[in-house]
Amino acid sequence: MEKILITGATGNVGLATLKLLESKNYPGVEVVAAVRDIERAKKIEGIANCNFCQFEFDEPTTYDKALEGVTRIVLIRPNQVSDVSKYIFPFLAKAEQTGVKHIVFISIVGAERNRIYANHRTENHFKKLNIPSTILRPSLYMQNLSTLHRHDIQYHDKINIPGGTGLVNYIDVRDVAEAIVTVLMNSGHENQAYDITGPEVMDFYQIAKIFSTELEREIKYTRPSAIRFVRQKLVDKKQLLYVLTLSLLYNAVRSGKMNYTNDVFRNITGHDPRHLADFVHEYREYWLKTDQKKKSVSLKKRLYRLHK
Ligand SMILES: NC(=O)c1ccc[n+]([C@@H]2O[C@H](COP(=O)([O-])OP(=O)(O)OC[C@H]3O[C@@H](n4cnc5c(N)ncnc54)[C@H](OP(=O)(O)O)[C@@H]3O)[C@@H](O)[C@H]2O)c1
Repeated sequence: MEKILITGATGNVGLATLKLLESKNYPGVEVVAAVRDIERAKKIEGIANCNFCQFEFDEPTTYDKALEGVTRIVLIRPNQVSDVSKYIFPFLAKAEQTGVKHIVFISIVGAERNRIYANHRTENHFKKLNIPSTILRPSLYMQNLSTLHRHDIQYHDKINIPGGTGLVNYIDVRDVAEAIVTVLMNSGHENQAYDITGPEVMDFYQIAKIFSTELEREIKYTRPSAIRFVRQKLVDKKQLLYVLTLSLLYNAVRSGKMNYTNDVFRNITGHDPRHLADFVHEYREYWLKTDQKKKSVSLKKRLYRLHK
């Protein structure tokens, strides 16, 4: 019997991983979503019937119960939990004591070289632990564009990201989830670290073009400087830590560090990752303006009547 615990299970990657594991319905495998608020989690579409346990990184009294009988962990560190020696390492120490036999840790591209990232310190900590681990370092999530940057695109027709003219590659969190499940459920990935990328690199002018074509209105790339970006986000009352983390990521884009793709996703899963244009097409409703949404609904209704 295997028991898999997923932290950050209501977030971008955790939710996609939870849904994928549930849909696979592996025999003899119990999946548990570690969440801060079980009632709130149950209201999320598609996961109402999952197993939940109450868990908070900054509440060590929740660790023992969450780890009961757990054999494998998908460890997603929330961005807010940056003091890893206080909250992540003690959790890992408990996992080691209770005999967890494999952890898949979601880090981020470049974390192995960048000491500032909390994921860097967590990656290094695994070297001291007696638990086999697999580190996945995804590139930027496509879903950032439908969450963090959605408002700017939907209401102001702009991509307001300090990426300069740097080339970037985006990966869909559903592909990250597939990579997680593959390395978790198949042997041979223990004590390995993989960078996983999307299928293509492009600059933000090209990305703005993809949005303009799909949304049938002009979306401009504003190319703000890092300082302007940080200032704007702070004026918008975003948390300093969050703004600095984002700024670091886009600094890596500007300096060309995200200008590459690799075949790791294909080698692990046997097929190619999703393209950004397909993601924008699939989720286009997210960025439509209200009047466009009305039009698209009435167009759908007319097409439906035509085909009836
Ligand atoms: N964004 C990117 O482009 C990118 C790319 C590569 C790697 N990453 C890495 O991915 C990780 C973030 O993953 P994500 O984007 O899936 O996260 P996310 O969407 O921000 O979700 C964070 C999750 O953590 C939970 N959470 C927050 N505080 C918690 C606490 N104190 N204790 C327990 N759970 C808590 C949240 O639960 P609630 O529902 O209760 O809030 C939520 O489920 C980071 O480590 C980041 O470095 C990000």
